[in-house]
Amino acid sequence: MNWPKHGSNPQYIYKETGIPKPEKWIDFSANINPLGSPQILKEKWLDFYQKINDYPDPHTQVLKKLISNKTAVDPESILLGNGGAELIALLGRILAGGNVLLIEPAFSEYESACSANDCQIFYHQLDEPAWELNVEEITSKLSAIDAVFLCTPNNPTGIGYSNETIVKLLEECKKTDTLLILDEAFYDFLEDYTPISPLIKEYSNLVIIRSMTKMFAIPGLRLGYILANPRVIDKLSGYQPHWSVNALAMSAGELFLQDTYFVQNIVNYIRSEREKLFSFFLAEGFEFSPSQVNFYLLRDPLEKEQMPLFTFLLRRGIVPRHTFNFPGLEGKWLRFAIKSTEENNYLMEVFEEWRQLP
Ligand SMILES: Cc1ncc(COP(=O)(O)O)c(C=O)c1O
Repeated sequence: MNWPKHGSNPQYIYKETGIPKPEKWIDFSANINPLGSPQILKEKWLDFYQKINDYPDPHTQVLKKLISNKTAVDPESILLGNGGAELIALLGRILAGGNVLLIEPAFSEYESACSANDCQIFYHQLDEPAWELNVEEITSKLSAIDAVFLCTPNNPTGIGYSNETIVKLLEECKKTDTLLILDEAFYDFLEDYTPISPLIKEYSNLVIIRSMTKMFAIPGLRLGYILANPRVIDKLSGYQPHWSVNALAMSAGELFLQDTYFVQNIVNYIRSEREKLFSFFLAEGFEFSPSQVNFYLLRDPLEKEQMPLFTFLLRRGIVPRHTFNFPGLEGKWLRFAIKSTEENNYLMEVFEEWRQLP
């Protein structure tokens, strides 16, 4: 089967599996804030529209200043991008021909970006069902590694690693002159988060990727940033096309960074939905990853293969994310986004039906 590489765009999953697309379907495969982007974006949209007649600021100065204030990182240590995906592609360019270590399971774009740039790719597999990060084991693999990619909170498990563990790994990476690339695309969904970004000043080998498309529900607009030592930022921006961040995305980003309540409301909403779903899964005997964010892995331990569950859900209009292209998971789990209350309730209803099948 030719599985789509990413979630979203469910028409490809229905086409590939040959299952007729029901009249109504819910996309649980894309990990986007289910309540949508801030209302103020709609209100300001016509003002933003005026900006498309001019080239956007290629230095993204206003947005950099706002990010600098928020992260305590100097503007020279910030690079904006056309979504986190563009920044990962740029990292691939600066690592060209080098040795990289991917901590798996993880977002598949690290592997794509590195293999497109002829890197030699090594893997460190985290073991289910706890997916714990053992720094000693990783350290033993670092000697000839130029960069380590670590996704935290991790996509696909939703597990966030502690700053203590990350700093331990950062110290080890420093000894071998290895970049530690943290993908924090989902950091703002964490309830208890202590920013690691102030360490950018202290550790020239620390790189942090962030996406604004998830929390602010703008995957169609595209916006992300990287925090790193100015030398790394200069190398990355050397490969970035001029005006990569468009004026609409930039204006939206400026608006979002000034709003303090939006993120907190979403975090609270997701927590309450997650708690409800996880109690239900426990009661019904499903296994799930101990996620701290807005998506989780799930499997039915009563089934050897998860494919029958997957196709049952598709027929009932629920589109999970397959895990065939996550090393170590290979279809043994399904990933679900936490959606709106109504959508999550429907999901639980369908799981109940599944449990009652003869
Ligand atoms: C872990 C992770 N990093 C980065 C990205 C890319 O995000 P963006 O939509 O900002 O390109 C994704 C998108 O799914 C992701 O899951």
